[in-house]
Amino acid sequence: MQKSIILFTFFISAICCNISSFAQGGMWLPSELDKNQKDMRTKGMRISTKEIYDEQNASIKDAVVLFGRGCTGEFVSEKGLLFTNHHCGYGEIVKHSTVEHDYLTNGFAAKTLEEELPCPGLTVTLLQYMKDVTDEVLKGVTSSITEKERKSKINENIKNIVDNATKGTNLSGYVKALYYGNQYMLYVNKIYKDVRLVAAPPSNIGKFGGDTDNWMWPRHTGDFSVFRVYVDENNEPAEYNKNNKPYKPKKYLKISLKDKQEGDFTFVMGYPGTTQQFLTSYAVEDIQNLEDPARIKLRTERLNVYKDAQEESAAKRLRYASEVASIANGWKKWQGEVKGLKFLNAIQKKQQQEVNNPLMPQFKRLYDENRKYKMEQLYIGEAVLSSDFMLHTRRLLSLIDLSWNEATTDETLQIEIDKLYNYLSAYYDNDFSSHRKVDSMIFVRTMTIFYNDFAKDNYTFLRTKIKQTSVEDYFANIYQSSILNNPNKIKKLLKDYKRTNYKKLFKDSAIELLSPILGQYINSTQEQLAQNNSKLDSLYRINTKNYLDDYNRNKQSQDVSMNNGIFPDANLTLRVTYGNIAPFKPRNGVTYRHYTTIAGIMEKEDPNIYDYVVEKKLKDIYYNNDMAPYGDRVAFIATNHTTGGNSGSPVMDADGNLIGLNFDRNWEGTMSDILYDKDLCRNITLDVRYCLLIIDKYLEANNLIEELELVK
Ligand code: ARG
Ligand code: ASP
Repeated sequence: MQKSIILFTFFISAICCNISSFAQGGMWLPSELDKNQKDMRTKGMRISTKEIYDEQNASIKDAVVLFGRGCTGEFVSEKGLLFTNHHCGYGEIVKHSTVEHDYLTNGFAAKTLEEELPCPGLTVTLLQYMKDVTDEVLKGVTSSITEKERKSKINENIKNIVDNATKGTNLSGYVKALYYGNQYMLYVNKIYKDVRLVAAPPSNIGKFGGDTDNWMWPRHTGDFSVFRVYVDENNEPAEYNKNNKPYKPKKYLKISLKDKQEGDFTFVMGYPGTTQQFLTSYAVEDIQNLEDPARIKLRTERLNVYKDAQEESAAKRLRYASEVASIANGWKKWQGEVKGLKFLNAIQKKQQQEVNNPLMPQFKRLYDENRKYKMEQLYIGEAVLSSDFMLHTRRLLSLIDLSWNEATTDETLQIEIDKLYNYLSAYYDNDFSSHRKVDSMIFVRTMTIFYNDFAKDNYTFLRTKIKQTSVEDYFANIYQSSILNNPNKIKKLLKDYKRTNYKKLFKDSAIELLSPILGQYINSTQEQLAQNNSKLDSLYRINTKNYLDDYNRNKQSQDVSMNNGIFPDANLTLRVTYGNIAPFKPRNGVTYRHYTTIAGIMEKEDPNIYDYVVEKKLKDIYYNNDMAPYGDRVAFIATNHTTGGNSGSPVMDADGNLIGLNFDRNWEGTMSDILYDKDLCRNITLDVRYCLLIIDKYLEANNLIEELELVK
């Protein structure tokens, strides 16, 4: 099968494609930015692309880092001071918050280096250089080998390339495939491990508007936090040590205090996570009509349960705050995505490009075959494993596996039992008596949807059992009767656990439910998915190559302003995107201005709604007009093409000075991961002057302001 795909391509002549559909937006490779130079200049840039990416001399790329594992940050002082978003530093701020020092609620600013707070586990990754290694990766890959042989050859080559680039150094590296394996890039990095929390605004500034305003414009969130990178005496990465020194970056960003106007050029450098602009119409159809709606439906149920609980008390609101934030983020984004895809007629647009493409029947067959497996995977993640109850059941299943397996030594088994005992004891002793209601509702409601929408037709064992009762009752009974609903019993069982106890556990109602579901998934579905995805991947590789060949044949020069450029999908590697500050029209008759001001915070204020509480201190600053030299701007929007991972990315002006921190997109434009539209899609940026105003006047951290280089 795999072989035939490859051979087949030999007979495909150029597939005429509507290249212009890839034309808008763009997340460009920094090392290939020369071809964007003319376009960037036309749009208003005054520096050269060499000042953005240069391997020999200090350039902006030396100031931009991957923050943690999925955000971006930037150096803003010669002492390794780093800006990122509040929602990117959130986990660290929470970890350092206690009842006595509630930094999350009240904000925090270190007034000396000694007061900065270590964040074990947090890393900052700084790219040293990137290099096209396509020829080396594909060495020995011929059209006569199978897909499997191809993969193993490629992996072997990649390992050698990375080893050669990093052996005997303190560098680390990886190779990433672009265009589904039509191009390969080597990335060589330094990873800094001593990163300390320096400042954060209070939650009602850093998270102002909460989930209600999330993904929305107009926006008034002061979404920033401040960290610092520490190094050894040679300015090199080191494990945490209190004697480490602030890192001296090769380049840090100057900060512009100038006013920004509609039309001004901006660019963003950062780590966008995932886009899927080459998807076929079949894939977009699945996302728009099946996957996103199923996810939204399931998360709506969970959110309703949490929200009802949160209404009960302030303590409960806090208890479920982070769950709600993370569930609601995707939930809201997918709703925007579906709306946007429909509005743009994305499926029809894709279909038009696919006319006369001989690969389409193969795509269709694979998508048809894969749909059931993909949905099963989705339901397992979003429904079956969405309650604590089922997550704990999964741990019990592993314990059964270990007990049953003769190869498990008594020591290994005991270690696992102790871990599980400690974990579950803490869980039950926390607030299980009240949390039980929430967790059981989540279990019953998500499982009911899972059953009605999917399992009924796909799991005979469930259909037979549920025949006699109502679906809800069936699942409610499972929760009721499981040992996991009886803290004393499960604790006792684990405390005195003997290997043979697995037999008893095996008869538990929760195990009886989860074991066949996960069994089918692990033993068969995963393998099917892997096989189909690998076939799809090869097909996309060929399809994308055809697009690229066609594009290269027809384009007039390397310069993207001459021919709308094609760029590789985001894959959490460093990219540059650029555009202009611009308002937009979310719907007929409405135009949204391109910036917001503090007046909007005062307008939104509602002391009774947690997300809209405004501190007296901020009101004093505003009403006493104590905002100089920063002014009253809070956020602005522009046409930069960004996605998840770009949070915290520096937004720069025509001279390469920092003017803001990227933190979100507008709801109407969230389909940009699949289809970008320059009229509808905007990135949302925190105006850096609001960030400075809060650091200076609210947190009173003049020590930090003094480190910065401000351009007036
Ligand atoms: N929507 C933004 C992004 O995707 C910010 C998310 C954090 N904020 C929140 N209210 N949940 O990551
Ligand atoms: N808020 C996103 C992030 O955290 C950015 C986006 O999706 O536009 O990376």
